[in-house]
Amino acid sequence: MKHLFGIAQLSREQIEYLVNLGASFVELSRRSVKKAPTLRGKTIINLFFENSTRTRTSFELAGKRLSADVINISASTSATKKGESLLDTGETLAAMQPHVLVIRHAIAGTCEFLADYLPDTSIVNAGDGAHEHPTQILTDLLTLKQTWDSPQGKVITIVGDIAHSRVARSHLLAAQKLGYSVRVVAPKTLLPLAIERFGCEVYHDFDAAIPGSDVLYMLRMQTERMTSSCCFPSIREYHEAYGLNRRRLDMAGKDCVVMHPGPMNRGVEITSDVADSARSHILDQVECGVAVRMAVLTALCGGGQTEPVRRSRKREQAEAAMKAQGKLL
Ligand code: NCD
Repeated sequence: MKHLFGIAQLSREQIEYLVNLGASFVELSRRSVKKAPTLRGKTIINLFFENSTRTRTSFELAGKRLSADVINISASTSATKKGESLLDTGETLAAMQPHVLVIRHAIAGTCEFLADYLPDTSIVNAGDGAHEHPTQILTDLLTLKQTWDSPQGKVITIVGDIAHSRVARSHLLAAQKLGYSVRVVAPKTLLPLAIERFGCEVYHDFDAAIPGSDVLYMLRMQTERMTSSCCFPSIREYHEAYGLNRRRLDMAGKDCVVMHPGPMNRGVEITSDVADSARSHILDQVECGVAVRMAVLTALCGGGQTEPVRRSRKREQAEAAMKAQGKLL
C-alpha cells in the first residue's frame, strides 16, 4: 500500500489486515514504556489545514511510539497564511524527503491531487472535506472488535449531520465491504441527495431506528461545512428530535453500544449521562485511534519503500523541457 486515500480504495482483506495490525498495537500504548523501534529512521509530517485534537494527536503519538521522527504543521502556522499554494506547500515538504505526509484539508480529493505531484511520498488522508476519513473507520472497527469478533451482520445506526460527515460516508463504504448494515437518521436537510445508493436504511424518526441497532453512532453538527443556516430549526428542537438521551438509550437492546468520533457537543447530539455511561465506547475509540494509526504508518513505511529521489517531478519536467529546447540548464 503506497497511500491511504479512503475506504473506497481498500479491499475487505486490507481493512481486516489494518484492523488486526492495530489490535496488536493496543497493548504497546498500555505499557509504561510506550516505544517500539518499528519506524526508526522514518520521517512523518502531519499537515493539518483543519482543526483537530484526536486525529492529529493520535498520528503524532503513533509515529513517536514507533520511533519515527514526527513534525506537525497546522494551517495557522504554515506558509499558506502567506499566500503559498497547496501544491507549493506540498512540494516544499516533499523536498525535505519525508516518508509519509498525513493531510487534513477542507477540500475533498486533496490527497489524490497532491499524490500526483509527490511521487516519492506516501500520503494519508486524515479527513478531506465531507469525502472520506478512513482512519476513523478503521478506529471504529478496531473498537468494535474488542466487543465482537466481526462486524458482519451488525447494525450501526448513524445519527445526525450525515450530509457533511466524511465519517458517515466512509462507514457507508466500509459496510458494503464488511457486510454490516448502516441506518442513517437525520432530517432531510442533513442528508445527502441519493443516500440510498449506498444501500442503507434511511430514517427521519430517531425512535423508529433504535430497535435492532447494535451501535448508536452520534455525529456532531458540522457547521463549518454548512453553506446555509436553515439545516435545522434550533439547537433545542434538534436535540429533542435527534439527541441521544437516557430515554432513547433505554429503548435500545441491552448490548447496544454508543459511539461518537468526537468532538462531542454535549447537550446537542448527546446528553452527558449517556456520553459518560458504561455503554459509551467513546474513549475506547480514542485509545484505538492511536493503535490504528500505528498500523497504517507501519503498513505504509514497511512495504519495500524505494529510496527517495532528490529532485521533484516538476523540476525534472522543467529540465526535460529545457533540454528539448536545447537550452543550457
Ligand atoms: C471527525 C472529523 O474530523 O471528521 N472527527 C474526528 O476526526 N475525530 C468528526 C467531526 O469533526 O465531527
